[in-house]
Amino acid sequence: MVNNFEKVRCDLRDHPRKWLVTGCAGFIGSNLLETLLMLDQDVIGLDNFATGYQRNLDEVQQRVGAKQWGRFQFFNGDIRDSAACKEAVDGVDYVLHQAALGSVPRSLENPVATNDTNINGFLNMLIASRDAGVKSFVYAASSSTYGDHPGLPKVEDCIGRPLSPYAVTKYVNELYAQVFARCYNFKAIGLRYFNVFGKRQDPDGAYAAVIPKWIAAMIMDQQVTINGDGGTSRDFCYVENAVQANLLAAVAPEDCLNEVYNVAVGDITTLNQLHGYLTRILAANGITVTKEPVYAVFRRGDVLHSQADVSKAVKKLGYAPEYHIYAGLEAAMPWYVAHSGRGYAWEDRIYRRCESSVSARI
Ligand SMILES: NC(=O)c1ccc[n+]([C@@H]2O[C@H](COP(=O)([O-])OP(=O)(O)OC[C@H]3O[C@@H](n4cnc5c(N)ncnc54)[C@H](O)[C@@H]3O)[C@@H](O)[C@H]2O)c1
Repeated sequence: MVNNFEKVRCDLRDHPRKWLVTGCAGFIGSNLLETLLMLDQDVIGLDNFATGYQRNLDEVQQRVGAKQWGRFQFFNGDIRDSAACKEAVDGVDYVLHQAALGSVPRSLENPVATNDTNINGFLNMLIASRDAGVKSFVYAASSSTYGDHPGLPKVEDCIGRPLSPYAVTKYVNELYAQVFARCYNFKAIGLRYFNVFGKRQDPDGAYAAVIPKWIAAMIMDQQVTINGDGGTSRDFCYVENAVQANLLAAVAPEDCLNEVYNVAVGDITTLNQLHGYLTRILAANGITVTKEPVYAVFRRGDVLHSQADVSKAVKKLGYAPEYHIYAGLEAAMPWYVAHSGRGYAWEDRIYRRCESSVSARI
């Protein structure tokens, strides 16, 4: 049976559209860009390289080839600049808005910077997209919106109080999108991502996410630090599932619009389990991990457990996540291993396996 995603891909191939991907030099944005170009779509990209990289764009270019790359136009611009947003969205059918400053710890350290990009920049993009008359505006929302609500699995309608400035910004995005729907008949869909991982996710820096950070450290046989007792759990979502959700959301029928949807798998994986999976998959890739993890205090702003109920996206968007965590890790690992000698900051250290310990955000 042909699934909904396959139908959408066929339709897009037959009738190419014009897309704007903001944050296209980042992790999720560059994966969206790659998929869209492989589907012969015309794509505009907007990024200011705040946390994204030229190397991600270079890699997409290499993977899709010259012909497909010719369909891509890049704007080096900032979503805090309303003129840049207006220029980028001109003539676009669908917007996939990914540009933001991620990371809970970053937002705790500098709430103003997070607010500027994630709220003011978001509002600029909404206004520019409204004025350009786009068919739909799909934006990266976040599971952080569930805040301190204790319910599991997380259902879209039941949210708690935000636990960080970052969570506030992502919730404000949802409120603005709803208000634009009511006031301007604007068509938006929010995708609440849960811990997305995969190729091109940055393993470096103070705000790196747990999976790329741990993989980079484990390849170097460094000890990783688990914040808490290792029982903290997440619904880790391979990036191809998030790409699928974006494409389905963009072309979704009228009755699916102006809603938010969880994007994950519905699985629960503890940090201890994650460490075990990574050790096993690295071994299958020829890398032996010898160090046991160390445990440290639980970090403020984090939630203890997170698991998505994805039934709304399944029912309304026809979302069918193709990768559970283990399959996603197996798919992503060769990329991390292959990039271990090519100019990423951590790659230089890869052959100097050392003793230091590495902690990461979850
Ligand atoms: N990765 C996850 O697990 C996760 C979970 C929940 C939500 N999200 C959201 O998904 C989106 C993409 O996240 P990601 O993991 O790919 O992060 P990322 O940091 O790799 O990508 C974000 C991109 O946005 C760009 N950007 C930042 N500020 C900008 C600005 N002012 N103007 C233009 N471009 C700007 C960055 O340079 C970067 O390329 C973000 O909105 C993030 O909040 C991600």
